[in-house]
Amino acid sequence: MPTIKEILQTMDYGPALETTKEAHAWLDQHGRRFGLFIDNAWTEAADTFASTNPADGVELAQVTQATGDDVERAVLAARRAQPGWVAMGGAGRAKVMYAIARLLQKHARLFAVLETLDNGKTIRETRDADLPLAARHFYHHAGWAALQAEEFADYRAVGVVGQIVPWNFPVLMLAWKIAPALAAGNTVVFKPAEFTSLTALLFAEICQQAGVPAGVVNIVTGDGRVGEAIVNHPGIDKLAFTGSTEVGRIIRKASAGSGKKLSLELGGKSPFIVFDDADLDAAVEGLVDSIWFNQGQVCCAGSRLLVQESVYDRFIAKVKARMQNLRVGSPLDKSNDIGALVDPVQQQRIHGLVEAARAEGCEIWQPACEAPEAGSWYLPTLITGASTSAAVAQTEIFGPVLVAMSFRTPGEAVQLANNTVYGLAACVWSESISLALDVAPQIKAGVVWINTANQFDAACGFGGYKESGFGREGGKEGMYEYLTALSEDARPSAPVVAAKAAAKPASGDSPFAVDRTAKLYIGGKQARPDGAYSRAIHGADGSFLADIGEGSRKDIRNAVEAAHKAAGWSKASAHNRAQVLYYIAENLAIRADEFAGRIAAQTGSKDAAREVQASIERLFYWAAWADKYDGLAHQPPMHGVTVALNEPVGVIGIVCPNENPLLGFISLVAPALAMGNRVVAVPSEAHPLSSTDLYQVLDTSDLPGGALNIVTGSADELARTMATHGDIDAVWRHDGSAEGCAEVERLSSETLKRTWVGGGKGRDWFDAKQACGRAVLQHATQVKNIWIPYGV
Ligand code: NAI
Repeated sequence: MPTIKEILQTMDYGPALETTKEAHAWLDQHGRRFGLFIDNAWTEAADTFASTNPADGVELAQVTQATGDDVERAVLAARRAQPGWVAMGGAGRAKVMYAIARLLQKHARLFAVLETLDNGKTIRETRDADLPLAARHFYHHAGWAALQAEEFADYRAVGVVGQIVPWNFPVLMLAWKIAPALAAGNTVVFKPAEFTSLTALLFAEICQQAGVPAGVVNIVTGDGRVGEAIVNHPGIDKLAFTGSTEVGRIIRKASAGSGKKLSLELGGKSPFIVFDDADLDAAVEGLVDSIWFNQGQVCCAGSRLLVQESVYDRFIAKVKARMQNLRVGSPLDKSNDIGALVDPVQQQRIHGLVEAARAEGCEIWQPACEAPEAGSWYLPTLITGASTSAAVAQTEIFGPVLVAMSFRTPGEAVQLANNTVYGLAACVWSESISLALDVAPQIKAGVVWINTANQFDAACGFGGYKESGFGREGGKEGMYEYLTALSEDARPSAPVVAAKAAAKPASGDSPFAVDRTAKLYIGGKQARPDGAYSRAIHGADGSFLADIGEGSRKDIRNAVEAAHKAAGWSKASAHNRAQVLYYIAENLAIRADEFAGRIAAQTGSKDAAREVQASIERLFYWAAWADKYDGLAHQPPMHGVTVALNEPVGVIGIVCPNENPLLGFISLVAPALAMGNRVVAVPSEAHPLSSTDLYQVLDTSDLPGGALNIVTGSADELARTMATHGDIDAVWRHDGSAEGCAEVERLSSETLKRTWVGGGKGRDWFDAKQACGRAVLQHATQVKNIWIPYGV
């Protein structure tokens, strides 16, 4: 007689197909042809393209390819509507957003089925994950709208926002984008991905029903050309993009110098780390969620499995056994785990990457099951034997393909985890809380899930480090992406700076060879510039003050190397960092008169003594913040906690303002240091001696060598080098050069580093509203959300 286990093994699920009647009726009602949604009205469908069901290749509807004129009309409608939307007040906007959330819930099944038809993802995911989360985002952000006046009193809406999303989570990405934008008082021009426009068009109807005023939400469909028109439109104040790193780069470059605020949520190659003390069965289930959710077409998919060597074979055997049970088939079948890929293009791309790995000698394993014939499919795949540098280990495959490797020690796990240009997410599995919480902060990623995977909530920020982009979606940090500090509106135009000195070769009889030469400051030591060039600095009265070294590309490289060696500064306690900043302030105070004299001599300022006093106070101010800019503990709807840590960005290159050579320098360098960053600073090009005079102050203030490096010379040259340097994590430029700032933004697209530039405007460095506060700290930190479920 067969055992119960044997009987169960022979049993299979019958088909449990979700009905598509309502979705098809909705498509029919629109004649299966859609125009654009602009100013609360539908345009005539024109120049249409097909949106097909990837599970069977059957056309669902014709969708309009918007033109540049359409985008123009959408932006104008959004512009017109924006003041009225703000005037409705937080409570008024909250009411409309609650209505959207309720309607999303009411029509959740229609949305879920339509999404499954259009995208190919399983109904279980659209029904149980995408729609509940989308509604939650509108509820949560309706709350932020209601609280805006209180919680963001010093901020205003940015204005008109252009939002571009990919096809992997069409309605969820729509909610992530539109909800915070509306809450903050912005109006939007939204573009869904060309493969998956239908739920966005259904959402347009929800907006009408919810009483969203005309022009507040505009939806334009079409391919990348429509995205480009949005990106380049001068009437857009902020761009929010989710998609490939490649297009993220294009957008960064295209918007450089435009003054548009930008957030980018890009690709990933996230590690899934399993330590030998993990609950291996739970980890396997987590892995299923991590890499096979949405056919692996997830930016934060755990596509790199890292398993501790001692349990590697056992774990891989368990993974294969579980893969054998994954059900591939109709996404409308409620018992299927794996649906269709969004388009044959994706299938070919995945196939190409996997076959290249096979040709390189990797082992490719797939379960013994078959995919349906029609449509685009790819079986769950496990790759072993790949080198750490193999394409499959480094490229975002964006499919149901897992690459497995082993490690020996926690240190090696961290090193492998960080061995990628991306930094979106990571999973850490261990029953040792001490080990897991030791490893999590060492991983360079915006989200770390401990003993869980792919958890999301509107209250918890999501976003990347490194080439996974910048900016956060969700939580309070996500709201700031859609707000502008009021103090920004009060900024003066950039001050006119007297002609800057030109570099000249340092000759034998140059004063460069004698005492009055200021060197560079690298690794805690004064260093001669690599090139034998210097420049003479003259005072306001034209008299010669000193020569300074002309820093070059090589000097920046040395400074960055020194900054990386000073990693201890980032690990030092916040208390310790505060003490060092207080000490610098004290030592500066002792020499206040001398510094005031130097400022006066260089700039002719009558305010020099006040500038020195303000600089000392500013050091005290940022020292005070060092141990107070705490993170948050979120309580998302799970049994556990999500800890949002404010981590340092890493190595920041700072081009300081020309005016207020001491106060400007300290106002930027001190908050960066206070938050644990290491800095490569380029002092005021016109008046650098206030910074070079600081060397002795720094030497006597216990600042570890390399935490702050100072390279004098041409702001343009040095900024260029820093913006393209692969090991600098962010560049700030505040010297009032509009062109220079645009160039920093443009060049930063290569490595997708973060930038904070002042553009062609100045800043009143004496005014605390313009130079202090959380807005500065946000530039000096990046939020990492660590999810810690308990009792599981
Ligand atoms: P994509 O990045 O090209 O498309 C995303 C969105 O950007 C779409 O709405 C598209 O129309 C728009 N777009 C394309 N070119 C644009 C431009 N020049 N300016 C403005 N908008 C533009 O992603 P695609 O082609 O759909 O997928 C290609 C690969 O990108 C995938 O295989 C995957 O590796 C990655 N990807 C990553 C995503 C993520 O969430 N990290 C999402 C989608 C794709």
